[in-house]
Amino acid sequence: MFPPVRKAVFPAAGLGTRFLPATKAVPKEMLSLVDKPLIQYGVEECVAAGLLHSIIVTSRGKTTIEDHFDQSFELEQVLARRDKKELLAVARSVAKLTQISYVRQAEALGLGHAVLCARELVGPEPFAVVLSDDVIDSVAPCVGQLAAVHAKYGASVIALMEVPRDQISSYGSVDADEVEPGLFKIKSLVEKPKPEEAPSNLAIIGRYVLTPEIFDSLTKITPGAGGEIQLTDGMRHLLGTQPIYGLKFEGRRFDAGDKQGFLRATVEFGLKHPALGESFRGYLKGLSL
Ligand code: G1P
Repeated sequence: MFPPVRKAVFPAAGLGTRFLPATKAVPKEMLSLVDKPLIQYGVEECVAAGLLHSIIVTSRGKTTIEDHFDQSFELEQVLARRDKKELLAVARSVAKLTQISYVRQAEALGLGHAVLCARELVGPEPFAVVLSDDVIDSVAPCVGQLAAVHAKYGASVIALMEVPRDQISSYGSVDADEVEPGLFKIKSLVEKPKPEEAPSNLAIIGRYVLTPEIFDSLTKITPGAGGEIQLTDGMRHLLGTQPIYGLKFEGRRFDAGDKQGFLRATVEFGLKHPALGESFRGYLKGLSL
């Protein structure tokens, strides 16, 4: 039996430059997909996968994330006074989702550095990393799919997806052997390769389950792509001492940190929304495109 994955780290200290001007004063993680901020989708995914504790790595200008997951006494008082029971339940449920801790990343030194900032809060146990601009629509939570592989092999596992080769330079890419249908043993990883240098068109998607030894690896690497301490480079270092697996997860991923991806996610999640979906479908059908 391997130790269970109980905690998830949410790097949320980035500047969100791909989504300017919306992200000038609003954290990217707080952009609302239909009626919930992006980061709430990730936190709910972890709760659905049975994880108990979310650790959010923030920075200056991100306090609305903390406010969102906190209780709002003023709002609750007003809703209670107006007898808005359903809305009151919605407002309260967000604060009760899970246990959340915060740690600051003082300098934007990269994704690997952000994960390293959570070291003390994670401790010596396996943990998930969730990039909240990768929104995943799936039956089984993606983090849970990775945790199931970890439970079997006791190793780090990353989410993989095939992308067109001309898009691979936006991602981490892996060289890997398929050992079971959809499950790969990673041979190497490279962050944001040129298409002609990429080992494959298998891209790393923003869901990881990592063993705690990743922290030591992250202290040993030097800045990589974009001059940043990259999580992908940390994993390549970890590969020197431990196996890492990759899973082609079941589900659809939306890059909601990108304007086009966000629009697509809005349409898809709007159509699936229990209260809004039907009338939204009618509206879309009526558009003369
Ligand atoms: C990060 C990772 C990259 C991964 C991507 C998935 O890059 O560094 O390996 O493929 O997330 O969304 P970013 O999009 O933050 O530049």
